[in-house]
Amino acid sequence: MRIFVTGASGWIGSAVVPELIDAGHQVVGLARSDASAAALTAAGAEVVRGTVDDLDVLRDAAAASDGVIHLAFKHDIAFSGDFQGAAEADRRAVDALGTALVGTDRPFVIASGVAGLAPGRVSTEQDTATANGSPITIRAATAQAVLDLARQGVRSSVVRLSATCHGDGDNGFMATLVATARAKGVSGYVGDGANRWPAVHRLDAAHLFRLAVEKAPAGSVLH
Ligand SMILES: NC(=O)c1ccc[n+]([C@@H]2O[C@H](COP(=O)([O-])OP(=O)(O)OC[C@H]3O[C@@H](n4cnc5c(N)ncnc54)[C@H](OP(=O)(O)O)[C@@H]3O)[C@@H](O)[C@H]2O)c1
Repeated sequence: MRIFVTGASGWIGSAVVPELIDAGHQVVGLARSDASAAALTAAGAEVVRGTVDDLDVLRDAAAASDGVIHLAFKHDIAFSGDFQGAAEADRRAVDALGTALVGTDRPFVIASGVAGLAPGRVSTEQDTATANGSPITIRAATAQAVLDLARQGVRSSVVRLSATCHGDGDNGFMATLVATARAKGVSGYVGDGANRWPAVHRLDAAHLFRLAVEKAPAGSVLH
């Protein structure tokens, strides 16, 4: 398949691209900078230049593909205080990508998360987020819109990632916890430490995205 991947240069995307290429797929990656474009070319992908706000670029690239994996997210503005703006931009991008795929029966896989789904217990694929207007539920509503595309001839699926995707080279949350423990000489726990925190290795996450784009039935939620 010729698969359009947004966020192909990111932490998870840079594992998804070789996973797809090694399985015999062609990858077309969205790149917003020269550095990201160079990384994608080096990984063996074709490049489409643009941002998640370039909705025509997204529509055209999706229409020219056999399937789409959407991983791009404006973490830069989300983590500097505007999660809502990032989530709203994401919804516009998802709508543009989805529109291009309506009636094609092609796969459309997006990344979402389990965070906040079922506080106090283990969440399952059957859980849906309660809409309360919070930024996390804006993302959950976007994911639901993708699942609803299954009724419009899109083989849509949503990969709900653990809040932590770890792996070699990680400089995210896990690495921060490890660094804090090293610096302080102790690991801190909330309460008695019985709280659960799901985690996935980024290579396993990449594998799941490949399986999803290849064969997840329309409307699948995958934890
Ligand atoms: N990592 C986790 O633990 C985790 C957990 C739950 C959910 N998720 C979700 O999984 C997805 C992938 O996460 P990740 O960890 O791989 O994120 P990441 O490392 O921050 O990568 C984000 C990707 O999006 C691209 N991007 C950011 N802003 C963009 C814009 N305005 N236009 C076009 N591209 C843009 C980045 O491009 P550049 O390379 O050019 O910056 C990069 O390729 C996201 O939706 C994320 O929220 C991740």
